[in-house]
Amino acid sequence: MIAGSQRLDVVAEFIPRYWKKMPMSDATQIVAIDGPAGAGKSTTAKEVARRLGFAFLDTGAMYRAATWWAIDQGINLDDGDALAAHTAAMTLDIEERDSGQVVTVNGQDVSVAIRTPEVTNLIYKLDQNSAIRKQLVELQRRFGEKQPTVAEGRDIGTVVFPKAKCKIYLDASLDTRTNRRARQMRKRGQAYDWDTLRAEVHERDEQSKNRADSPLRKADDAFLLDSTDMSWDETVDAVVRHAQEVL
Ligand code: DC
Repeated sequence: MIAGSQRLDVVAEFIPRYWKKMPMSDATQIVAIDGPAGAGKSTTAKEVARRLGFAFLDTGAMYRAATWWAIDQGINLDDGDALAAHTAAMTLDIEERDSGQVVTVNGQDVSVAIRTPEVTNLIYKLDQNSAIRKQLVELQRRFGEKQPTVAEGRDIGTVVFPKAKCKIYLDASLDTRTNRRARQMRKRGQAYDWDTLRAEVHERDEQSKNRADSPLRKADDAFLLDSTDMSWDETVDAVVRHAQEVL
């Protein structure tokens, strides 16, 4: 585990490439966006970051990358200690390019592989693991301490950046979120059955909300934004407006 922790420092060294274009200024400027699967957090957060000139941190991609790596390495997903040790030894790099986000694990581009249903449906094996959460939260905090950041995930306003001045809980109805996931999968050329997808989104809601460590919940001081009947543009505008008011 000690060797693994040192390895995690190496991982952190790679992270700066992720924000290389961003200004190094007020570290307290964090926009924390949480919410359930399919609420549109990633696309919204990325555009909000662009509009505010902040860095963008997709924490879900980190849990996805760790899950992909564990599957790829044939780790027993029910062995929590082995999972944590392997995550600590992972070299993770997430880079925002004009063409999109590029996620590499040990130099291998896994940007597409981390979005497969197999990975999505097995993340709960890792995201309930407190040792893994600790490792990834540490990286996320270091990222946010270095520059103004829009971070999105499930525990950003409650655990990662509890002192963030701007917290948003982005929600939408289950059907709307299923439709958004379906649209994403169509774009990626992935096959799906709508009812199965809806059941999976619901299942992930339950897993995120009911886990013992860092369950998904709205922070008391978070602004609740229900985007069920809002366009993406309207959602981005609302978040940017709120950020400009409170930051
Ligand atoms: O946002 P996403 O679908 O890419 O996230 C993938 C999974 O990672 C999600 O099912 C829950 C987990 N996750 C988490 O536990 N904490 C975070 N801060 C971000 C994601």
